[in-house]
Amino acid sequence: MTRRAVVEGVGHYLPDRIVPNSHFEEFLDTTDEWIRTRSGIERRHFAAEGETTSDLAVRAARAALDSAGLGVNEIDGVLVATSTPDLTFPSVATMVQSALGMSHGFGFDVQAVCAGFIYALTNANALIVSGQATRLLVIGAETFSRIMDWEDRSTCVLFGDGAGAVVLCAEEGTGTSSDRGILAADLNSDGRYRDMLYVDGGVSTTGTSGKLRMQGNPLFRQAVEKLTSTAEAALQRAGLSHDDIDWIVPHQANIRIIAGTAKKLGVSMDRVIVTVQEHGNTSAASIPLALSVGVAEGKIKRGDLLISEAIGGGLAWGAVVLRW
Ligand code: UT7
Repeated sequence: MTRRAVVEGVGHYLPDRIVPNSHFEEFLDTTDEWIRTRSGIERRHFAAEGETTSDLAVRAARAALDSAGLGVNEIDGVLVATSTPDLTFPSVATMVQSALGMSHGFGFDVQAVCAGFIYALTNANALIVSGQATRLLVIGAETFSRIMDWEDRSTCVLFGDGAGAVVLCAEEGTGTSSDRGILAADLNSDGRYRDMLYVDGGVSTTGTSGKLRMQGNPLFRQAVEKLTSTAEAALQRAGLSHDDIDWIVPHQANIRIIAGTAKKLGVSMDRVIVTVQEHGNTSAASIPLALSVGVAEGKIKRGDLLISEAIGGGLAWGAVVLRW
């Protein structure tokens, strides 16, 4: 028997305020047409004043717990993938714990920017497979609107706020790729690319939280290549091929990156969950948001073979293969 980490619940939360592309035409030299054709984004959600990353994370966590039919007392720990925490410390995860009324177990944040949920899922899988934990909440939550430079048209039109969560539970599998749960993962990072996507402030430099800076076009070219290779590595590790994929649930940065990667992986776009038009790029929240939407729309079904891949600041990138 092989211990597996299986997704038993999923949920998401998006802030009420929906901002269409036309909003940016009011104060920037940009157009709805440019944003739509270059990125695929049509609208995004922005958190209300005073609404924090932990607020979004708690709403998503409650939805995931409800969908799993589990109470917080049955959860051993909380992992939150985020690069936009409420405070420098304590972690968003401990804030979620306290908001849920959870005084047992553990909580910590994972910071791998847009690849954060892949990193958090991989860590949660290791904790479950090693027997350290039995049930974990894994959340991706961001308020990227707080780190936008509203005068930089090349970045501020691309990002949004939101949160998604899954409940991962230990289950016995057969050790084959027909098991439900996380089957394989692949993680990478290369700090030589740090200038491609970063925030120009921080605790030990400026003492401010800073604003996001991105070299969009060079990153675009890195993205398709690295997402394809990490997806292939994860599939190979699982003993599977692109023919086995039911759904790609990718990081939602740009429809052209999503389509380019799917094409290289030999998967048609009708097998890809796409939410970028509705959410924009929500960094670490984008994959759990897409998982939750994919399930709610009746696309992702029990037993389906999923691959998720993401890349972001660092650069950090990776992929997870799981059977739903
Ligand atoms: O989640 C982390 C990972 N993030 C990514 O992977 C993002 C990767 N990059 C991208 O998605 C794309 O590179 C962008 C959507 C950011 C840009 O698309 P692009 O096709 O690479 O365009 P570009 O950067 O080459 O810019 C083309 C032109 C430039 O004008 P010139 O120099 O050709 O005259 C830009 O100044 O578009 C201009 N531009 C804009 N025009 C209107 C840049 N932003 C805007 C804008 N509205 N908002």
